[in-house]
Amino acid sequence: MNPLDEVRSSWASLASEINAADETKLVELRSRFLGKKGEIPGLMRHLGSLSADEKPVYGAAVQALRQEVESTLDRLQEQLRSAALKARLESERLDLTLPGDRSEAGTLHPLVALRDEILDLFTGMGFEIADAPEIDTEWFNFSALNVADDHPARDMQDTFFLSRERGEDSLVLRTHTSNYQPHAMRDRKPPFRLLSCGQVYRCDSDATHSPVFTQVEGLVLDKGISFSHLKATIYTMVRALYGEGAVLRFRPSFFPFTEPSAEMDVDCRSVGLDRDGWMEIGGCGMVHPNVLTNSGVDPEEFQGFAFGFGLDRMAMLRHGIKDIGLLTAGDMRFLRQFKGLA
Ligand code: DAH
Repeated sequence: MNPLDEVRSSWASLASEINAADETKLVELRSRFLGKKGEIPGLMRHLGSLSADEKPVYGAAVQALRQEVESTLDRLQEQLRSAALKARLESERLDLTLPGDRSEAGTLHPLVALRDEILDLFTGMGFEIADAPEIDTEWFNFSALNVADDHPARDMQDTFFLSRERGEDSLVLRTHTSNYQPHAMRDRKPPFRLLSCGQVYRCDSDATHSPVFTQVEGLVLDKGISFSHLKATIYTMVRALYGEGAVLRFRPSFFPFTEPSAEMDVDCRSVGLDRDGWMEIGGCGMVHPNVLTNSGVDPEEFQGFAFGFGLDRMAMLRHGIKDIGLLTAGDMRFLRQFKGLA
């Protein structure tokens, strides 16, 4: 057998192996037959021993074999490649019918949204925002506010006492944000307009009372302040929050720290609620001269008004919420309803 036939038949005898070849085998075969020192280039070495007539015939036959080997190896390689690609596409295929991972956008709690709105509103009216401690002394929470030691208001407010002994320095969870008033008057000189918002605590719990709730407290001290300044401020707030049609009433009341004092009620129907009656939202009044004196302000020189709102009540009024406890229960079914509040 001449060398050409030998190579041809060795190629042919590998046919079954070739067809089942993997990537490595193909590389191996390619180098064995087509590589620089491979069998097919090796055939050209015999060219010299051939006659002039035989040379082109032989050359063409070698070339034909090279092409056959090359195209077979190319085709197989292509097949392997596309099979691999197909397998990859198959394994990485996206199942568009699978449920996605829903990323839920957070939303503001109705109390936070309303608080922000109120803070914005009062900032716009020239109020400064400030804070006071939630754990405070009896002095700041009661005595400084003209609540006498034996005054029923101390019990009326169902205080959480933190100290065993009772006394001016003993600690309580503040029962109202009014504790903020003496802090403010001691920390700065009037005139000022201040607003404070925060949590307050009372031993009290039913559909309209919660042991933890939030109040918004305002204090304005200046010369020549009257009750009409107070009314104008409160009206402005209520109408901004509930619309121009909101009906508000001031009911004479009593607080030791204001004289005269009033409680404020909003007509439920006037703010779009489907129920008759008034919802009390807070108390207010002209700052009692004793409260000014207790904190070193001369009542002859400065007068002022103060108010304290229940933020939870105001949110109930706004959204028609019937149970105050829902606002602090953290129940997602309830909270999800307020998705639009951003
Ligand atoms: N502190 C009172 C309460 O919690 C509310 C209040 C009434 C605040 C009159 C005031 C005020 O500032 O002037 O019931």
